[in-house]
Amino acid sequence: MIRVDREDAVALVTVDRQDALNALDVATLTLLRDELRGLAEDEGVRAIILTGAGDRAFVAGADIKYMSTLGVTEAMEWGVLGHETGRLLETMPKPTIAAVNGFALGGGCELALACDIRYASSGAKLGQPEVNLGIIPGWGGTQRLARVCGLGVAKELIFTGRIVDADEAARIRLVNAVHDPVLDKAREAAQLLATKSPIALRMMKRLTNRALAGDHAANLSAEADSFAELFSSEDAKEGLAAFVEKREPKFVGR
Ligand code: COA
Repeated sequence: MIRVDREDAVALVTVDRQDALNALDVATLTLLRDELRGLAEDEGVRAIILTGAGDRAFVAGADIKYMSTLGVTEAMEWGVLGHETGRLLETMPKPTIAAVNGFALGGGCELALACDIRYASSGAKLGQPEVNLGIIPGWGGTQRLARVCGLGVAKELIFTGRIVDADEAARIRLVNAVHDPVLDKAREAAQLLATKSPIALRMMKRLTNRALAGDHAANLSAEADSFAELFSSEDAKEGLAAFVEKREPKFVGR
């Protein structure tokens, strides 16, 4: 099942299938996608944390028992569902944070990679071990791991299936930081982000998502357009005025 807990403007989304180390089957992944769709639209939610229930796993991957039954058509549908979920985390107009509290393997690592920021507990283990099953990462891993860690690291991890511990994950920048309890770190970051201007964050996310793809000049030009556009918002006026008046800004999202 998927639990969603609202903590002011932060939504904590927990994958809870502990008897399978939170591995995702069709029912759980469908629920996760649907919850994320709702949260993406919900203007009361300004930041999202994704984590796993219990203290052993974030998500130990796609459900291998289920995948062992699939033919090509079902595998296509399964891949699409994973891609839709990753794309929501990556493109929804608000920050998404993975709190990696244990195994984040295969599809679990891929969902973490689709988030904007990743924090790990010191006992976390991450990797793309699909090669050991005779398959490949199918929920964005072949693309996003290279964007986060660089092509050389991505190829080594994907080709060998080697699993890295939290310290190595931080060294290769697969996670932003290691912290126990990881949820405290994720909450602190999410609560901080929830105080920022949601319009500025939405634009920043859209623009930084383009940074490693497409045409550099066009991306810079998109930044220039967004920068100017923001000056029509109440939030920009408020943020600039608050500095001048030596007070804390209060952002309303307009
Ligand atoms: N799919 C389905 N079930 C999974 C799973 C997955 N990806 N990962 C773990 N489980 C299940 C196990 O089958 C086991 O259930 P069972 O007792 O009914 O057989 C339960 O979760 C506990 O896992 P277990 O393997 O007994 O724990 P462990 O501590 O010995 O090993 C792992 C932990 C993560 C190393 C091991 O479970 C593993 O290698 N999982 C698969 C990881 C993977 O390849 N993921 C990528 C898939 S794309």
